[in-house]
Amino acid sequence: MAQFGIDLGTANTVVCDETRGIVFDEPSVLLQRNGAGRRGRLIAIGRDASELLGRVPAGMTALRPLQDGVITDLDTARTYLRAVVRRAARRPWQRSYARIAIGVPSGATELERHALLEAADEAGLKGATAVDEPIAGAVGCGIDPMERRVHMVVDVGGGTAEVTAFCYGGVLTSRSCRVAGDEMTVAVYRFLREHHHLVVGEKTAEDLKIRVGYETESRVVVPGRDAASGHARLATIPIAEIVEVLEPITDSIVETLAASLDDLPPEAARDVLADGILLFGGASLTGGFSQRLERAFGFPVKVAENPLTCVAEGAARCLRSPGVIEAYGWN
Ligand SMILES: Nc1ncnc2c1ncn2[C@@H]1O[C@H](COP(=O)(O)OP(=O)(O)OP(=O)(O)O)[C@@H](O)[C@H]1O
Ligand SMILES: [Mg+2]
Repeated sequence: MAQFGIDLGTANTVVCDETRGIVFDEPSVLLQRNGAGRRGRLIAIGRDASELLGRVPAGMTALRPLQDGVITDLDTARTYLRAVVRRAARRPWQRSYARIAIGVPSGATELERHALLEAADEAGLKGATAVDEPIAGAVGCGIDPMERRVHMVVDVGGGTAEVTAFCYGGVLTSRSCRVAGDEMTVAVYRFLREHHHLVVGEKTAEDLKIRVGYETESRVVVPGRDAASGHARLATIPIAEIVEVLEPITDSIVETLAASLDDLPPEAARDVLADGILLFGGASLTGGFSQRLERAFGFPVKVAENPLTCVAEGAARCLRSPGVIEAYGWN
């Protein structure tokens, strides 16, 4: 029987087939035709839809099915999930008989978990299980969440940053901060417009944010449109300025992590201080971020080998451990 792990994220959706590996990894976006009957509405999902963000033709709308990691509109989520699973499991029998675990933020409310499972059920994924995303991510990185030793993980995604400590089948503390990677992109966009009078697209702002981690030059040339005249132009931006723009957001994540450490009982804190923490989620790759945490807290900070896919991989792997599903899953 096929086993799928699904990470339905604010920014990206990843599907892992236990035997074939990653079978879908694309932006969480769908493109719909306005007003038409329900069935004919969906035009594209994933990369095809996201490439049209910012240049959507009249009569169509590009939507993100999730906000801050949770479903806000059941109808959109159901349509999106159905299309994702059709792409990931091409044969109908693979879908009907599959066992499926979907990641859910540990900060999600009962209602939000219920909405996710309802959308999955209506999308044809009968009997899907929801599993805590931080646990799935940890399992995807080889951590055993049934161990007595306490582990702490930080998932820095698009919509939220979540800090979770767990051991022996239970969550000890979980805090989330509703600013993460996407907020960093918005901060870069605003900074360029306000301080360099340059208007850029979302993709350009995101690329610039990501370049901070790899750039060897001290300045970068950014294409955009002049905010006053509207003419296309190039601006030279010092990398140090972008690093500074990202700081208030990384500060919020540092504060959330500090508060989570304060939540821990002393013995649990001792495990974390000795072993350090594990980071995953796309924005954990932000230039200088892990080093900043190491400096602030003094314990080892490890970034996952596959920070963008470990939640889906771990969710699929969890299905092989009934104990983990029983302890950290939701039906
Ligand atoms: N190399 C990188 N450096 C910095 N940021 C990155 C990098 N790669 C991806 N990101 C950012 O990571 C974010 C997406 O991460 P991820 O796919 O883990 O989020 P998600 O799971 O969809 O969101 P959430 O968990 O909040 O629902 C985006 O904001 C993206 O810009
Ligand atoms: Mg995520």
